[in-house]
Amino acid sequence: MKISVCGKGGSGKSTVVTLLANQARARGYRVLVVDSDESNSGLFRILGFDHPPVPLMELVGGKKKVQEKLKSGYSADEAETAMRVMTQENIKVDDIPSENILKQDNLGLVSIGKILQSLEGCACPMGVLSREFLRKLSLSRDEIAIVDMEAGVEHFGRGVETSIDSVLIVVEPSFESLQLAERINKLSRGIGVDNIWAILSKVPSNGIASKLKGELDTKGIDMIGCIHYDEDIFQSSLEGLSFGKAKASEEIIDVFDSIVSRANSGH
Ligand SMILES: Nc1ncnc2c1ncn2[C@@H]1O[C@H](COP(=O)(O)OP(=O)(O)OP(=O)(O)O)[C@@H](O)[C@H]1O
Ligand SMILES: [Mg+2]
Repeated sequence: MKISVCGKGGSGKSTVVTLLANQARARGYRVLVVDSDESNSGLFRILGFDHPPVPLMELVGGKKKVQEKLKSGYSADEAETAMRVMTQENIKVDDIPSENILKQDNLGLVSIGKILQSLEGCACPMGVLSREFLRKLSLSRDEIAIVDMEAGVEHFGRGVETSIDSVLIVVEPSFESLQLAERINKLSRGIGVDNIWAILSKVPSNGIASKLKGELDTKGIDMIGCIHYDEDIFQSSLEGLSFGKAKASEEIIDVFDSIVSRANSGH
């Protein structure tokens, strides 16, 4: 299963990715977290690692090289082909070079690439690489890939989701977040994603949860679960730490089980 976690900036995507990854491991899965957010660099910390992996972009000659190809008259397709010959057609988790993947107890973390300098150019090469990596990624039945997507919807324009089977939209209690959820839902449907669900995040009360669920129902978006506002998570994030036994870890149990059962039954 390949799950893409999307939503508005700051809605709680990386937190939900971490909660899901922890729960998937608790259920006996091997998890590959794919950091596809080219701006924020802290996912490794929330997942409990003390340094980030070397980005996969380095495997294909660096962002500049891919960008040069795009600039020097190569079409996006040709640039992809060039990358394809540098890598194999099917990538298994165990094939990923050790410096490009961090591992700990059935958890792996890879990162596509980060924009680190000003005037470095656009993030299109990252989008192409994300899409190609996810397409080639070949998982066994006991493996799950969870993608921490960049905020917003640009990744849909780059086709990153084309080989994703499930899209999880993180919705925080705000009008903007609901609006964006509607767009993501439509875009995901448009590219034929089988499973699209919303998960509520940072919800302060059950009253607000019902209200948000009502809004999502009106928009025809299926809500799969709710993570309440959790002081422990907020505090850990403030200190740049991974969160331990947060209340949200209990709430994610049912969400994860629903995702697996619905994905397997095709709903
Ligand atoms: N359930 C929660 N309870 C309390 N705080 C939360 C919760 N979920 C996320 N947060 C806090 O909200 C902030 C944003 O969360 P997070 O980094 O997971 O969002 P994001 O969508 O990945 O953001 P970005 O778009 O910047 O990547 C962080 O400070 C995080 O600790
Ligand atoms: Mg994030």
